[in-house]
Amino acid sequence: MKIGFIGVGGMAQAIIGGLLKAKTFAPAEITVHSHREESYLPYAQAHDLVAAKSNAAVAANSDLVVLAVTPNVAQAVLTEIKGQLTPAKTLISIVAGLSLADMATLIGADVPTLRTLPNVNVEVGAGMTATAANAALTGERLTAALRVFDTIGSTTMLAEEQFGVFSALAGSSPAYIDFFIDSLSRAGVKHGLTKQQATEIAAQATLGSAKMVLQSHKIPFELIDQVSSPGGSTVAGLLAMEEAGLMTAVVKGIDATIKRDAGETD
Ligand SMILES: NC(=O)c1ccc[n+]([C@@H]2O[C@H](COP(=O)([O-])OP(=O)(O)OC[C@H]3O[C@@H](n4cnc5c(N)ncnc54)[C@H](OP(=O)(O)O)[C@@H]3O)[C@@H](O)[C@H]2O)c1
Repeated sequence: MKIGFIGVGGMAQAIIGGLLKAKTFAPAEITVHSHREESYLPYAQAHDLVAAKSNAAVAANSDLVVLAVTPNVAQAVLTEIKGQLTPAKTLISIVAGLSLADMATLIGADVPTLRTLPNVNVEVGAGMTATAANAALTGERLTAALRVFDTIGSTTMLAEEQFGVFSALAGSSPAYIDFFIDSLSRAGVKHGLTKQQATEIAAQATLGSAKMVLQSHKIPFELIDQVSSPGGSTVAGLLAMEEAGLMTAVVKGIDATIKRDAGETD
């Protein structure tokens, strides 16, 4: 199985880095091309990838063709590679806002197509990727396309109308979670820890708590109750955070993200 990337910007590099680390593909099975040679050639050489001379050559040389260009050129690039996109290939798009219907209009509905929205954590093998497949992508072909993202994190099949809320919850949230980690860490510094110690402690506690939610299959409130002893310090801290509006602040932040993403203004 060979995979090709059209566009090797930040997101494609995060995915390729994750795939190489997980050994899902050997470097010789990965072909790349982008707009400027000075951008894709040194990248391909540094990682022993195959550098194609055109976008069409990437599509011709790959079973899985990943469209990873900026949204403003996506439609033009699809038109450019249309001749190579036979039903024997699978197109995987990571382009935000480009729907399955948009792609079918340009390349035909018979090309197996997966629309995805990965988040930046794919780079460390802990990504969260939303996916939606067209009717032509089923069975083993669908499994092979999903495997690209399953090996660098988790995937979830979503209706395309839910990509907006997914984008806020998984695409933007790394920034919000980093903000939370930094806030915890600053509190540690306030009480005498160095910033480095406090950041490491806060990040590891956040990572472990996320794993507990996923692996225990308990809702977060059950886990909160487990560590909140009656009359204890944890419940005192929780109530103080809630008095300052933590949950409302988070929901308002997600609301604002979704609103802005949908192009709405106040
Ligand atoms: N960043 C994220 O967190 C994120 C998350 C989910 C989805 N996405 C989606 O991922 C896509 C890429 O985002 P990014 O952050 O990686 O952007 P980026 O760093 O700006 O990279 C864009 C890439 O597109 C290439 N490109 C532009 N025009 C091209 C053309 N005509 N033919 C071939 N390649 C062309 C650029 O090539 P040169 O460098 O050679 O100019 C560059 O490699 C976007 O559609 C975005 O919506 C991004």
